Amino acid sequence: MSQSSFGEALNEQVANEFAAHQQYVAIAVHYDSETLPQLAAFFYRQALEERDHAMMMVRYLLDADERAVVPGVAAPQVEFGDVVSPVALALAQEKRVTEQINGLAALARQESDYSSEQFMQWFIKEQIEEVATMSDLLRVVERSQERAMDIEDYLAREQLGEAGDDPTAPHPAGAGG
Ligand SMILES: [Fe+2]
Ligand SMILES: [Fe+2]
Repeated sequence: MSQSSFGEALNEQVANEFAAHQQYVAIAVHYDSETLPQLAAFFYRQALEERDHAMMMVRYLLDADERAVVPGVAAPQVEFGDVVSPVALALAQEKRVTEQINGLAALARQESDYSSEQFMQWFIKEQIEEVATMSDLLRVVERSQERAMDIEDYLAREQLGEAGDDPTAPHPAGAGG
């Protein structure tokens, strides 16, 4: 089975997406243990989205007849000093992923691999949304850090990060279709 350098780089991104999944589960569990159910629910939801991203990439590798390797991931951060730091960590992670996604699109273009370049377009759009959502949340959390219930109310009201059905989203491996 072949492995292009894009395929190799996309396998690395699968590991990054699974690591993001683990980090968001860790953040959700942290907020859950602090009895902040809206913050917990938000991060449980984000975690599932990251898993989907990983599985969309696995599906693409399979469809493109590239080697798809299910990776191990490093342990996530599980201890947090205050209500703000998990969201700050999440925003930094989303910004890092945006750079990684842009790098993958650039690599595909450089290799004249137009189907891979096109595959990356959905993720570019997704990262713009995720950075915007996490930036909004960070502002709210910073403003209300002494009043955690205000943050909970905000999340309950705004349904932050609750994306509707996106028919243009790539199918994750194992999800049918
Ligand atoms: Fe992601
Ligand atoms: Fe993300």
